[in-house]
Amino acid sequence: MSDYDLIIIGSGPGGYVAAIRAAQLGMKVACVEGRETLGGTCLNVGCIPSKALLHASHMLHEAEHNFAEMGLKGKSPSVDWPQMLKYKQSTVDTNTKGIEFLFKKNKVDWIKGWATIPEAGKVKVGDDIHSAKNIIIATGSEPAPLNGVEIDEKVVVTSTGALALGKVPKKMVVIGAGVIGLELGSVYSRLGTEVTVVEFLDHVTPGMDAEVSRQLQKMLTKQGLNFVMGAAVQKTEASKSKAKVTYKLRKDDSEHVLDADVVLLSTGRRPYVDGLGLDALNVAMTERGQIAVNDKWETSVKGIYAIGDVIEGPMLAHKAEDEGMAAAESIAGQHGHVNYSLIPGVIYTHPEVANVGETEETLKAAGRAYKVGKFSFMGNARAKANFAGDGFVKLLADKDTDRILGCHIIGPAAGELIHEICVAMEFGASAQDLAMTCHAHPTFSEAVREAALACGDGAIHM
Ligand code: FAD
Ligand code: NAI
Repeated sequence: MSDYDLIIIGSGPGGYVAAIRAAQLGMKVACVEGRETLGGTCLNVGCIPSKALLHASHMLHEAEHNFAEMGLKGKSPSVDWPQMLKYKQSTVDTNTKGIEFLFKKNKVDWIKGWATIPEAGKVKVGDDIHSAKNIIIATGSEPAPLNGVEIDEKVVVTSTGALALGKVPKKMVVIGAGVIGLELGSVYSRLGTEVTVVEFLDHVTPGMDAEVSRQLQKMLTKQGLNFVMGAAVQKTEASKSKAKVTYKLRKDDSEHVLDADVVLLSTGRRPYVDGLGLDALNVAMTERGQIAVNDKWETSVKGIYAIGDVIEGPMLAHKAEDEGMAAAESIAGQHGHVNYSLIPGVIYTHPEVANVGETEETLKAAGRAYKVGKFSFMGNARAKANFAGDGFVKLLADKDTDRILGCHIIGPAAGELIHEICVAMEFGASAQDLAMTCHAHPTFSEAVREAALACGDGAIHM
């Protein structure tokens, strides 16, 4: 008899959600976690601490830039960095403890330590071997290295080091204008650091709607971030407290050097499978080093499943969570389902950026006829009152059927507004369905409705 119906390796958003759902479905479940606390990258060194620092630094930005105009006079607050880090850590702690509570509530055993899979149906942690009918690998990802860049997590850091710097640096070079680079670059820029972002491509945040990407770069530049585009970083050289970053401009191959107190490497993440023993088990991998799975999240070895950052798809917490639920349901004999075409993406800069579904670029490439309904937040009363008029909602709908195909928002609360579109698309709604739905006034959501109106006879406030 097995010790468990299911053992999950890794307690990030994929693993802990799978554990809770499996327990709810009546399975005897354990989750192995090597870290001191539950919650994975997301809760410990990812989504949660970064959002705490984004929130705190945004408050400072508001105080410095908008308070006086609203009649809130007085000295702007100064930065107490150790206290800000304490606030960040307490946010992390409440959330990781929350998962511990949920494990107890759902009778999920937390096995502490690093797991290996000696054979299907067995999980080894330290000297103990536990048996399980099924195993889910949810071991997440780690920062991808870059040739010539040596990480010390003090001067040359990944996001993990950047979330726990000893002090606010005077000068920071960020390598890569992706999600991590722009979010953490924004944090330090707001705290007074001179931030320069060096990006290989000619635009920020690859894969995003090109118009939104241009607008985001423009707005971040206005906020004080510097961008060097079309530049390939060659190497970093670090001393105890300083670093030099050498890059070549792609257009003319000229070499340039930037000085920094801290360099943040944010050029992507890669699946983390170290120490699991997958080679010996003959678990099939993709060309990109991800664990290959079928439509039930089962690997090439029967009874071993994989979810989250360690498999194909966007490296996002909510994608991992959805897979966690669905894989547990599949193992329980139910029909676990993830709609991969409707996974929203959000960048928590100011303003926020959010997207779901097709972009104009993907639609053009597919030769699909579409129409665009665009509405600027300048026409939205609530946004204007909140100094948040820069930005827009862009809705894409099928030219013939009017069915919504995608949405791209840059503006206030974009990360919340996008879910109205996700629900609409999940139900196969048309732009007209959205346009005919009453939206409360004055809300940012009215801009979404206006974009839907713009797909038809026209927006009212534009
Ligand atoms: P992880 O969260 O990486 O968890 C894997 C866990 O497995 C880890 O705790 C690890 O210790 C454990 N583990 C690994 N190997 C073993 C082993 N052999 N034995 C035992 N335990 C093991 N995504 C968003 O959607 N929104 C955001 O705002 C966001 N912000 C981010 C900010 C930063 C700075 C970073 C780095 C990432 C961010 N992400 C965000 C991405 C998000 O964190 C990941 O997509 C998500 O954590 C993936 O979840 P997961 O369960 O697959 O793996
Ligand atoms: P990313 O893939 O988002 O961006 C990497 C950037 O680095 C790209 O713009 C790329 O062109 C650039 N780049 C690559 N090589 C380069 C080089 N040699 N020199 C200069 N630029 C180079 O990766 P990032 O920001 O590290 O994030 C990793 C993952 O974490 C993402 O996949 C994302 O999904 C997840 N994440 C999600 C967040 C969110 O949902 N808000 C927040 C933070 C991370």
